[in-house]
Amino acid sequence: MTLPRFIQTGPDASASRQSMAEGLAPDPAKNPAQNLAQNLAQEAAAGLLAQPAQVSPKFFYDALGSRLFDAITELPEYYPTRTEAAVMAQHAAAMLDTVLGATGPAPTLVDLGAGSCAKAARLFAALQPRRYVAVDISADYLRAALQALQREHPAVEMVGLGLDFSTHLALPPGVADDGPALVFYPGSSIGNFAPADALRLLQQARQVAQGGALMIGVDLLKPASVLEPAYDDELGVTAAFNLNLLKHLNRVLGSDFQPRGWQHVALFNEAASRVEMHLQARHSVDVSWPGGCRHFVAGERIHTENSVKWQPQAFEALLREAGFRNLRRWTDPQQWFAVFVATG
Ligand code: AVI
Repeated sequence: MTLPRFIQTGPDASASRQSMAEGLAPDPAKNPAQNLAQNLAQEAAAGLLAQPAQVSPKFFYDALGSRLFDAITELPEYYPTRTEAAVMAQHAAAMLDTVLGATGPAPTLVDLGAGSCAKAARLFAALQPRRYVAVDISADYLRAALQALQREHPAVEMVGLGLDFSTHLALPPGVADDGPALVFYPGSSIGNFAPADALRLLQQARQVAQGGALMIGVDLLKPASVLEPAYDDELGVTAAFNLNLLKHLNRVLGSDFQPRGWQHVALFNEAASRVEMHLQARHSVDVSWPGGCRHFVAGERIHTENSVKWQPQAFEALLREAGFRNLRRWTDPQQWFAVFVATG
């Protein structure tokens, strides 16, 4: 039986807590996973101490958070996933023609934020990739998904990469540096980056593509009456997803958050063209972790996510600025979501 190769550059939560408790700086002699864990814990602590407090959305994605996100994609209010799937299903042939024109046959497929690998798996029949590189911060969740996919496609070489690419995207040597690749970044996760950071990530994605192509899903600007329910659904699944971040922080940082003391808030910030998610203290509370603490007054918020909603022309300008050429765009009839293919 063929098994996927797995490369873990991600964190080990117990290592990070220990170093935080000891007040240690990253030790180059330690293994990279320990240093990364420590960096993550330090990043979380710095965000909690900022004014206002903020925690990166990457802390949503522990194993439970990844499952809660999958549940969100099934909700009637959360239109992006099904709208993107419909756009891709309708225009897959034209998209993949453009891609294969840039990469040549049987390219490497690099899937950023692969999660359950389900979206990339839909490309396999038409793309016939020789290699599939699935990249995700939630390494355990990715491992299980990739093993199942490898059983279905024994001839495709599969590599799982547990990697936090939110600060820097670069693949380890030997993973995908042997020719033009397709970099696939669906789901409008690019919207979770501020525009300047999105530009940097696109520039790095272009390096990874090595003259191949980028296929990227982007959620478009639309009325707040559609956007806000998508991030504050009736069943409270998005609220659970947001609150689970506190439980994840408790493990990564050793903090003592009590999720019941916090409330999910989602709002559309029109000036910044983004949906924001926050966690709001229901009453005044002290939160501690090894080496730090913070007092939150009732009503004070922790900013946990931005989800930028792009105008199509503005996103095209960003792709061009990142160095991409031959831009093509497909959307749904309501122009709610766009899939762009661009060559590197
Ligand atoms: C992963 N990302 C594109 C989602 C979004 O829509 O910004 C995360 C999410 N947050 C709340 N619901 C979904």
